[in-house]
Amino acid sequence: MDIFLISAQKGGAGKSTLTALISNSLAIDFRKKVLVIDGDEQGTITDFREADELELEEFPYEVKKLPTKEVAEYLDNLEDQYDVVFVDLQGSTSDNDILEIMMLANRVLLPIIARKADLYSTLNYVETIRKIETYKKEEEEDTDFLLYAMLNQKRGRIEEKAMRDYCKEVGVNIFENGLRDLVAYARWNTYESYMSSDNSDLNAVKEEFTAFMNEFVEKYKL
Ligand SMILES: Nc1ncnc2c1ncn2[C@@H]1O[C@H](COP(=O)(O)OP(=O)(O)OP(=O)(O)O)[C@@H](O)[C@H]1O
Ligand SMILES: [Mg+2]
Repeated sequence: MDIFLISAQKGGAGKSTLTALISNSLAIDFRKKVLVIDGDEQGTITDFREADELELEEFPYEVKKLPTKEVAEYLDNLEDQYDVVFVDLQGSTSDNDILEIMMLANRVLLPIIARKADLYSTLNYVETIRKIETYKKEEEEDTDFLLYAMLNQKRGRIEEKAMRDYCKEVGVNIFENGLRDLVAYARWNTYESYMSSDNSDLNAVKEEFTAFMNEFVEKYKL
């Protein structure tokens, strides 16, 4: 069972969006048993699921809402009944809570929006997570902890190249394939995958998202 945390320092980097887009695809396209734990007190993914329930009865995976403080204990007691578990936290989650959950996770993805205004805090965060990775690898001999960064809301900015170079410098591997800033990604739900979309208007989204997902399952060994 792999426990994923999509984690970013700042609110709004796309944690919930990516958690949903990726969970949909893993459950539908890759036939994984997925659980999404919504540890965000604002309940973003839970709200989306509740809205989806007005239209649909069956879903490709379960969403479980928990207070942030209860997530770690829940993970600790979870039996091996899922292939993949995602934890979604809000941007203002305390460092201690994030750390506690990260110690239980074995897969971390850092979504990065390479904006000049966020550069400094992003660099700081990448470095902090890199330290946690080093610590985990030293403390837990047989850990299979995997950390990657990815560029979200790509717009072809020069900062994106700088961010790639920086990640390389500090030893954080970054995905080749990012996701552009597209309305389609903002319009996510909890049951459809762009990878299996048959809407021809979405061909470009499908192509980009499929490349991203193929890299995702390869890099995280799913
Ligand atoms: N690739 C993308 N293209 C277009 N819009 C995006 C993309 N990724 C995220 N967004 C939009 O950016 C905003 C923030 O995304 P999201 O809510 O997923 O961030 P978050 O990291 O979960 O925020 P919080 O810290 O508040 O939980 C949302 O309006 C979302 O629709
Ligand atoms: Mg969120």
